[in-house]
Amino acid sequence: MIEKIKQAFEEHFGKDPLLFKSPGRINLIGEHTDYNDGFVLPAAVDLGVYFACKPNELNKYRFYSYDLEDVCVRDVHDIAISKTRWVNYLLGVIAQFEKSGKKVQGFDCVLGGNLPMGAGMSSSAAVETGLAFAINQMEGYGYETLDLVKFSQKAEHEYAGVQCGIMDQFAVMHGEHQQVIKLDCRSLEYRLYPFHMDNYELILVNTGVKHSLASSEYNKRRQECETGVALLQKHFPEINSLRDVDLEQIQNFEQEFDPVVYNRCSYVVEENLRLERACAALEKDDMKAFGQEMYGSHEGLRDKYEVSCDELDQLVDLARSVEGVLGSRMMGGGFGGCTINLIAKKSVPDFEQKVLESYQTPDGGQPEIIKVKIERGTHPVQINEK
Ligand code: GLA
Repeated sequence: MIEKIKQAFEEHFGKDPLLFKSPGRINLIGEHTDYNDGFVLPAAVDLGVYFACKPNELNKYRFYSYDLEDVCVRDVHDIAISKTRWVNYLLGVIAQFEKSGKKVQGFDCVLGGNLPMGAGMSSSAAVETGLAFAINQMEGYGYETLDLVKFSQKAEHEYAGVQCGIMDQFAVMHGEHQQVIKLDCRSLEYRLYPFHMDNYELILVNTGVKHSLASSEYNKRRQECETGVALLQKHFPEINSLRDVDLEQIQNFEQEFDPVVYNRCSYVVEENLRLERACAALEKDDMKAFGQEMYGSHEGLRDKYEVSCDELDQLVDLARSVEGVLGSRMMGGGFGGCTINLIAKKSVPDFEQKVLESYQTPDGGQPEIIKVKIERGTHPVQINEK
């Protein structure tokens, strides 16, 4: 893939670009907890977006999307939200460097890869984080990776209009080979857990449903959580977020809540607890117990947080019916995208067969089955590396 991106760069812009890879991410458990100051357990994967970049001394940013076969050129003085959606993830990042007081000189950039878009694997975070990393290298700014993560998250807020948490950009940047990241989204401290794949596989199944509702419903969920926090603060002034709330506290005041807000908030409190149990299981190498928490997470997302959809539920039910599937749940923001499935290696053929036999995407096609490996985060690439 990187060869193709480099070649495309040479065709469009010239020789000797710098090359980078920025991966997609999965999330094992801990969904919709990041913007509630809670915990998440993501990892970067082998699929990703590749970049070829080079300063051009033209006072222009020239972008070519290899996958979309589309070009976009912007004057360096003309950074504003564009009607062309894919470009916003890039312009949004440049805008953050400028806000931090750094002028980004003109450059050429080709990007493209093998990460499915709109599948809930954070292709947008891969693009944002990849460009932030590339600019930092090209310009020699010396920003810390965490600064670049925050620039990328801000780009998503301001240029894509999604008030996302920090999980995606953090995971994409800080991923490590065969390790999952337990991230405390309040302190941003993290711990890596080895995730052994000798006996298991992680398989995503793409519903084929694009999460079109996602951004408006996502922002609404955030507000509902804030409403719940404001209510609880009347009783517990020391609370800053749902992270600070325990089950008993919220249960004791259930009658004061709007039922929908109550469900949203109790889901978040429970999901943090599930994640703690899942990490304890991981430490004991008890993948069966780990998988049970994944199923529990899906139920909460479906019934209380209401971000699933029929297709995701159908795929999780299918997974449950196959022996050797330890856990299955919707992954990411919801309303479409993928399920993530933890499967004993020997049961993978049965699982695949069952999915292909029993599930059709909304356009009547076969679902994409994506086997992922856990790999390192955003990094420079040498051309002899595949
Ligand atoms: C999206 C957001 C993340 C996170 C997940 C849900 O992927 O970008 O910040 O909130 O949804 O867990």
